[in-house]
Amino acid sequence: MTTALRFPQGFRWGTAVSSHQVEGNNTNNQWWAWENVPGHIWHGDKSGIACNWWKQAERDFDLAAQLNQNSLRLSLEWSRIEPEEGFFDQSALRRYRRMLEELHSRGIEPMVTLHHFTNPLWLEVKGGWENPDTVKKFRQYVVRVVEYLGDLVPMWCTVNEPGTYALEGYLTGLFPPGKKSFSRAFRVLANLLKAHGEAYRAIHMLDGKARVGLVKNLRPLAPQDPSSPTDVRLAHLFSYLFNDLGLRPAVDGWLRFPLSFRPAPFGPLIDSLDFVGVNYYSPTTVGFSPKAYRMLFMKWGVPEGVEVSDSGRYGPYGAIVPEGIYWAIKYASQFGKPIYITENGIPDADDDQRPRFILSHLAQVHRAMSEGYDVRGYYYWSLIDNFEWCEGWGLRFGLIALDTKTQKRTLRHSGEMYGKIAGENAITPEITSEYAPKAMENGNSPAFAESLLRRFT
Ligand code: FCB
Repeated sequence: MTTALRFPQGFRWGTAVSSHQVEGNNTNNQWWAWENVPGHIWHGDKSGIACNWWKQAERDFDLAAQLNQNSLRLSLEWSRIEPEEGFFDQSALRRYRRMLEELHSRGIEPMVTLHHFTNPLWLEVKGGWENPDTVKKFRQYVVRVVEYLGDLVPMWCTVNEPGTYALEGYLTGLFPPGKKSFSRAFRVLANLLKAHGEAYRAIHMLDGKARVGLVKNLRPLAPQDPSSPTDVRLAHLFSYLFNDLGLRPAVDGWLRFPLSFRPAPFGPLIDSLDFVGVNYYSPTTVGFSPKAYRMLFMKWGVPEGVEVSDSGRYGPYGAIVPEGIYWAIKYASQFGKPIYITENGIPDADDDQRPRFILSHLAQVHRAMSEGYDVRGYYYWSLIDNFEWCEGWGLRFGLIALDTKTQKRTLRHSGEMYGKIAGENAITPEITSEYAPKAMENGNSPAFAESLLRRFT
């Protein structure tokens, strides 16, 4: 690499976190209850005090500022703000206000997510997102929050990864409430999308200037056996159910089958995106398995012959395919809105892959931008190691390593590198040669990446 890859002025360089994963002692939500049942979390881990953000987020805000971050994506914990139905806790709102002010004072613009997987317990016992009343309750919570914090929040993400929430909570059963039912999964997804639409309208009613988006995990899907027509069809079907159904309704408003048995547009959802939040981690292969009758006979896997990241409870977390982020940007661009990469990251405890991962993914973001795709920012997941849901503390995504016993923070090599990129607003040849000289050698999976791109573009 001889020339620098420059990013436009004002590009957002950030990292992302979510409330339950970093705050600690979120005892009043469904995840806390779930963690306390043996067998649910890898190694029996618990979120505990997590990264202790409820008390000391500012310590990590300082580190983010030292890494030249100009934005941070964080989420609000509904169970703190409305610990009992209809009771809004002013002290929790005050704490969040403080956190947002502290970010601004460090030159870090907050991007705030309103729902990131967790629900207050009182809501969960009423059926959570299976219950259509939850949409109204979410709207009420959003109105309170925006009234109190709106002046400090230029960018809102309504719901984080509704497809993942529905899939893991209602099909694989790995997330609470651990159910396995297609009809419930699609009911939940439909309600989360409606909630997005309602929140979009409510925020704009209170603040005309706010920018509001939905955060969607986009997964490139490839047939396990490209010569099998069944595998090809299943890959397309899964892409439709996972990628498309979780995002398109926020543009055209339509809740199609299987989101609804009587397909119809839902008014508040129509044109309800000021931006698309794209989370990209890795591609998935889909093949036919007669045993997987609960999953429409689909078996998922990691593409073969491709470098993988650290392993979790069920094998490698994902395959490293930087071209996938380029695919995700192109996919999201069909909706004609600005794009933020709201999450992209890798579990890599010893940090031997992360520098390369970040550089090669950013190079693909740059490639898309140089072709005219409107990407406004990139948020690495995550600033610091945090509680990774059912994988507990077993997967380490942070630019900063956390010792959970002592709360000691150690900046990883990749963190130092990301700070330099943000500071330069560019990937320079010096950065590449210092941190990952091989990162730009067009990945380790060109054949797979190319076939993936051909199939989905
Ligand atoms: C995403 C989630 C985020 C984190 C990363 C690794 O799907 O939004 O909370 O767990 O995966």
